[in-house]
Amino acid sequence: MHNDIKKISLNEEQIEEIVSRLGKEISNDYNGKEPLFIGILKGCIPFMPDLLKNVSINCTLDYLRVSSYEGTKSSGKITIKGDIPSVKDKDVIIVEDILDTGRTLMNVRNLLLEEGAKSVNICVLLDKPEGRIVDIKADYVGGHVPNEFVVGYGLDYNEKYRNLPYIGVLKEEIYTH
Ligand code: IMP
Ligand code: MG
Repeated sequence: MHNDIKKISLNEEQIEEIVSRLGKEISNDYNGKEPLFIGILKGCIPFMPDLLKNVSINCTLDYLRVSSYEGTKSSGKITIKGDIPSVKDKDVIIVEDILDTGRTLMNVRNLLLEEGAKSVNICVLLDKPEGRIVDIKADYVGGHVPNEFVVGYGLDYNEKYRNLPYIGVLKEEIYTH
């Protein structure tokens, strides 16, 4: 598995620092509130559990199963599988692995607002600004990556590599042959 990685984008120590910083920022900003964290499966694992360990205020959590990708290209269509969490009058924080074209998070944010959420903010581990197609920004961003396909720490290529403890760029030969 490690041989399929061209270069490391973020090592384990860097990820730990990012997650700790985001947890503190959110805890400060939501002081006095009780946010509902909604993780987008499956890419939010292990990011969301690690993030929550760094959140020092009361909160609740739920998950939403969404898929939009096939191979290394975003399909543009998103599919929600299973129940939509109850968000009525809640301050929601969506937790997602990466913001690329923006379609997934635009769709999910609009859906949760339609469902009656009081507020919806977005927390992403990574932002890939060059990939953006729809106009959306994340409120909490761990780090930025160039327009390369990255895997690890929840990010997959055809469901694999999620278990890498770091984030790295996948060798092109893995997805071109
Ligand atoms: P968007 O709708 O194009 O913003 O896509 C977001 C989703 O695409 C993320 O939840 C990821 O699952 C996936 N994605 C985008 N870029 C990458 C990448 O570089 N590696 C792995 N998955 C990615
Ligand atoms: Mg994915």
